[in-house]
Amino acid sequence: MNAPLRLGVNVDHVATLRNARGGSYPDPVAAAKLAEAAGADGITAHLREDRRHITDADMARLAVELTKPLNFEMAATAEMQALALRRKPHAVCLVPERREERTTEGGLEVAGEKARLADFIAPLREAGSRVSLFIGADPRQIEASAEIGAAVVELHTGAWCDAHHAGEAEEAARLLRELREGARLAHGLGLEVHAGHGLTYDLAREIARAPEIRELNIGHFLIADAVFVGLEAAIRRMKAAMAEGRARASADS
Ligand code: PXP
Repeated sequence: MNAPLRLGVNVDHVATLRNARGGSYPDPVAAAKLAEAAGADGITAHLREDRRHITDADMARLAVELTKPLNFEMAATAEMQALALRRKPHAVCLVPERREERTTEGGLEVAGEKARLADFIAPLREAGSRVSLFIGADPRQIEASAEIGAAVVELHTGAWCDAHHAGEAEEAARLLRELREGARLAHGLGLEVHAGHGLTYDLAREIARAPEIRELNIGHFLIADAVFVGLEAAIRRMKAAMAEGRARASADS
């Protein structure tokens, strides 16, 4: 019997839509509550340095109003560390951030920054947050994450999803193999393995077959499909796709 697979719903793009008009709706905290009711196992929000979607006030409300675990995504900066230490979220996921990017494009460089990141995560761990590092499925980055004491690695699925959508079947198959090998390595080193970025129903179903992966974090596709079917239905469909993939993982093994 494989371990269950959790869904973290990322509400950043509800805030993107709100900020397009500068008003108060749609409210990402209301969306997070609806997601909880629809079966999300946790809520993820990324407070970017430029505050392009989630704001400090959103994060403050998410930290106190949710009933499911909050995963606070942030860059490894002193400002964000101070905010996370104040809010003490269930989890902190460190991501690389560049102002000009449209979304989090690559994984975090851990291997080249072990000492700095070890110092950075120590107080977060002491405050009780589970620290997750968003990395590519690269053995160097995975091993470095284990060495510096991260509890979790989240494997960046974006390149695989892009190759799949571009119809590059061989490249997609290669990247999927890399993700699956990375998940096995990380699990073997005692890390909890999460994955996310660019996932759709079909791709979530596929990656759910990797039994070492315990959580998927999904935002853009869910909010996009919610335009057509509603957020609650989109989340239910995603959970069903993940469960189908997980059932095939049991059949694979
Ligand atoms: N996980 C991490 C660490 C991310 O930075 C993002 C994007 O904000 C996601 C998951 C979700 O990606 P998407 O919005 O493409 O589903």
